[in-house]
Amino acid sequence: MTLSPADRDAWLARWREARTGFHLDRVNPFLEVNADRMLPPGGGRVLVPLCGKSLDLAWLVARGHDVVGVELAEAAVEQLHAGLGLTPSISDRGALRSWKTDRLEILVGDIFDLDPAVTGAFHAIWDRAALIALRADDRARYAPHMLDFLGPGGRMLLCTLGYDQSKMDGPPFSVPASEVRSYFDNVLPLEKLEEKDVTDGNPRFSESGISEVLEELWLVG
Ligand SMILES: C[S@@+](CC[C@H](N)C(=O)[O-])C[C@H]1O[C@@H](n2cnc3c(N)ncnc32)[C@H](O)[C@@H]1O
Repeated sequence: MTLSPADRDAWLARWREARTGFHLDRVNPFLEVNADRMLPPGGGRVLVPLCGKSLDLAWLVARGHDVVGVELAEAAVEQLHAGLGLTPSISDRGALRSWKTDRLEILVGDIFDLDPAVTGAFHAIWDRAALIALRADDRARYAPHMLDFLGPGGRMLLCTLGYDQSKMDGPPFSVPASEVRSYFDNVLPLEKLEEKDVTDGNPRFSESGISEVLEELWLVG
């Protein structure tokens, strides 16, 4: 089952109207510090679900990895390639559309249409603002779906946010530690690597009366 038409349209509208406050103008600091925890030395295949136009993609390629991003909004993928000065070759890849340059491939479409039989297995998955972009019922499908893409010994770095969900609707949605554990405990080793209070600098949260926003980084596998 794919994303609901309402959620799909909401994401496409965000990109059309440039309401993309989640985009970072730098490489994600959690990734910079912890990438070696998930990636094999000497290079591997990395999946970046719900990738937007993240600068993390080119950073991973520059470190010698083969990177596959998945993104619903073609506008995001156009902006990504324009920003990097890349001219991709475009073709169908299963149910998604592939934008491919040397070591970077972006699959345009719904993550729930992504098939491990088409992509092959990955050494690592980098999830920043992907799980937390989805509603609870979609998260419960997304977490096991992602594990289907990890090869033996594969690892996932997962960045979540926790806050009082009763005070604000997502996205981003609050995903507390208990929910993360419910997906991965007893399936793969799970370790919390970092946590950071990110309440300051997020006016949308404080304007909603939220007094604490916790960002947590998890290593799965
Ligand atoms: C919160 S943004 C995060 C983007 C990126 N990870 C970053 O750190 O900047 C979530 C992105 O996922 C895309 N998206 C949402 N649902 C999706 C789905 N089911 N399949 C693929 N992409 C999706 C949206 O268009 C949006 O660009």
